[in-house]
Amino acid sequence: MSSPSRVALITGASRKDGLGYTVARQLSLQHNFTVLLGSRFLSPSLDEAFKQLETDGAKHGVFPLQIDVASAESVQKAAKEVEERFGRLDVLVNNAAVGISSARTEHLREYPKLPLRPTEHTRNDFDEVFAVNVYGVVDTINAFAPLLVKSPSPRIVNVTSVAGSLNYASTIPPDDLRAGFMVYSASKAALKMLTIMYSKDLPKLNPAFKINSGSPGFTKTAFNNYLGTRTPDEGAAVMTWLATLPDDGPNSGFYADHPPYSTENGKFREVEW
Ligand SMILES: NC(=O)c1ccc[n+]([C@@H]2O[C@H](COP(=O)([O-])OP(=O)(O)OC[C@H]3O[C@@H](n4cnc5c(N)ncnc54)[C@H](OP(=O)(O)O)[C@@H]3O)[C@@H](O)[C@H]2O)c1
Repeated sequence: MSSPSRVALITGASRKDGLGYTVARQLSLQHNFTVLLGSRFLSPSLDEAFKQLETDGAKHGVFPLQIDVASAESVQKAAKEVEERFGRLDVLVNNAAVGISSARTEHLREYPKLPLRPTEHTRNDFDEVFAVNVYGVVDTINAFAPLLVKSPSPRIVNVTSVAGSLNYASTIPPDDLRAGFMVYSASKAALKMLTIMYSKDLPKLNPAFKINSGSPGFTKTAFNNYLGTRTPDEGAAVMTWLATLPDDGPNSGFYADHPPYSTENGKFREVEW
């Protein structure tokens, strides 16, 4: 089956108060996309999330899609399901991420009071976070690239963070507790490198491809125990913009509409890598 409307998959989109769901909501309600809400598990809360979008007026369909990006098997299964149902994909938003390994959640819970020093990190801290934030993105892009190639305007949006900017990290004073999130920052820096590499390669398969990264800014979600200062709608706007870029839009960039890069919501500016 093919779909007349553009089809977008957003990973990690099951939480109604999260950025992934908010991007799905904006793509669906403001841009008439068919949206696939990617989620690690099929659950009653996912059912509730997609029914809510339908109630709110999603015209072109909202579908839950089980995709655990840390499992290569789950990613392959999801790609097969999308191929059978839609025959192509127009937009992939790599939003799913974890902030810290499961053994360290108290550091996130107590943020910013309990920093984790670089010397305290273990290989396991890296394995768990990179499995989702980096390897998960590689698996997802590779599995869905053959479906994206079939789109007239394929877009990949990697949800990253200023925390992954080498330039920004270099300016953080040694006693600043944000420096404690070393693994997360390293994973988001790696994601930016992936953005550059894929943005050079995928356009060889379809010149209309645009692959970019977006930073939502410090947004009030479960990720930071709701300490963020931006609303999910404000944070999601850069991803929605990158997902709907016109054919003469940028490729390979890293954008934000929050300080210190921009002073106005919706005014997207390049962030230094
Ligand atoms: N909030 C901020 O201030 C901020 C700032 C900069 C960047 N970001 C980025 O924004 C994105 C969304 O974060 P958020 O703030 O909306 O936090 P969130 O609500 O915690 O969303 C993260 C989502 O990722 C999902 N996820 C985790 N592991 C997964 C896996 N293996 N497979 C599939 N999904 C998985 C989570 O699913 P479960 O609910 O099942 O755990 C959750 O739905 C992330 O990439 C984050 O790094 C956030």
